[in-house]
Amino acid sequence: MKVLTILGARPQFIKAAAVSRAFAQYDEIEEVIVHTGQHFDANMSDVFFEELKIPRPSYNLDINSLNHGAMTGRMLEGIEEIILKEKPDWVMVYGDTNSTIAGALAAKKLHVKVAHVEAGLRSFNMAMPEEINRILTDRISDILFCPTDPAIRNLNKEGYENLENKIVKNGDVMQDAAIFYSDMSKAPDFSIADKFILMTLHRAENTDNLERLKNIVEAANEIHEEIPVVLLTHPRTKKILEREGIELNVQAEDPVGYLEMIHLLKNCILVMTDSGGLQKEAFFFAKNCVTMRDETEWVELVENGFNKLGGADMAKITAAVHELLMRENDFNIDLYGQGKASKIIAETLIAG
Ligand code: UD1
Ligand code: UDP
Repeated sequence: MKVLTILGARPQFIKAAAVSRAFAQYDEIEEVIVHTGQHFDANMSDVFFEELKIPRPSYNLDINSLNHGAMTGRMLEGIEEIILKEKPDWVMVYGDTNSTIAGALAAKKLHVKVAHVEAGLRSFNMAMPEEINRILTDRISDILFCPTDPAIRNLNKEGYENLENKIVKNGDVMQDAAIFYSDMSKAPDFSIADKFILMTLHRAENTDNLERLKNIVEAANEIHEEIPVVLLTHPRTKKILEREGIELNVQAEDPVGYLEMIHLLKNCILVMTDSGGLQKEAFFFAKNCVTMRDETEWVELVENGFNKLGGADMAKITAAVHELLMRENDFNIDLYGQGKASKIIAETLIAG
């Protein structure tokens, strides 16, 4: 069976690292990887293929830095051509980026079966590009690999029980990656304090809204006066901070590879982020997380007290940080399948 995997953005490389590793265990599966080019800086793309030994993409469409319509449209065209040439049995897409919806739509229109990893997640905020991408991708996918029970409940509420798609709870492939690569973690090439907070920030809802962005930066600056904050600056955020002349007083560093990221996760005392993936990784490495968003798709982290929403409100963020720094949680609870998610994907595809 031939599986055409569509990748484009950083979190998808990490997810695919786990799944490609599982696929390689089965003679029945031949995987061909397409990189849309959505992320292209060496520290946003190449580093993951190298460090995590992800098979090199057979195609790179080099489509990036465009408005949503142009980016998705050009990806659709490029992926369609590749599907026509490769004639895969399955097209695999991950998460909720523009590369995800482009891959799913190109495949479905050609009557090629679509498997969606991280299906069923909802923020219920239709202003987010990710929410639009994931709802549309779910609707045209043949197998929906859901990481959690709440994800399955979301689909059922939308009437998926009555549709023909197959819904499979497989757990979270990011936990597979965290478990597998944990022993290989390595220190980044900058120094870190004994106690520090690990921060990332890149979501459009924060970076493209100057009031939200300034509030979050101000909160981070204030926290940094008390506890060092290490911000790994996504290129999107860096460009906007520079353009707007927003003063950032934290320890700002360039993005790091995943093995360095695990080192930082192991050594930090708290995570502050608006990333989807990082909210879960904080939990995998037994760290509490303040999420700088008004809602999260990973509701089980909030329900179990590992995650607190700070929105883009300075007082709320600093209060959440102080509260979670004091909170001693027991992280010994299985929320994401404990590392079997990729194997379930491979076996489900083989079972047909
Ligand atoms: C995308 C996803 C988002 C995901 C994030 C992961 C969509 C709509 N959004 O957001 O869901 O959380 O990836 O990181 O698909 N840039 C660079 N170098 C790079 C990558 C990006 O300079 O290697 C710049 C681009 O030129 C662009 C900006 O960052 O100006 C945004 O990139 P884009 O891929 O459009 O969206 P992300 O914000 O990365
Ligand atoms: N990540 C990384 N280096 C960094 C920042 C993040 O390797 O400098 C990893 C992080 O550990 C997680 C993934 O990138 O596995 C999350 O991707 P991102 O936050 O870009 O996207 P999201 O999950 O929000 O879609």
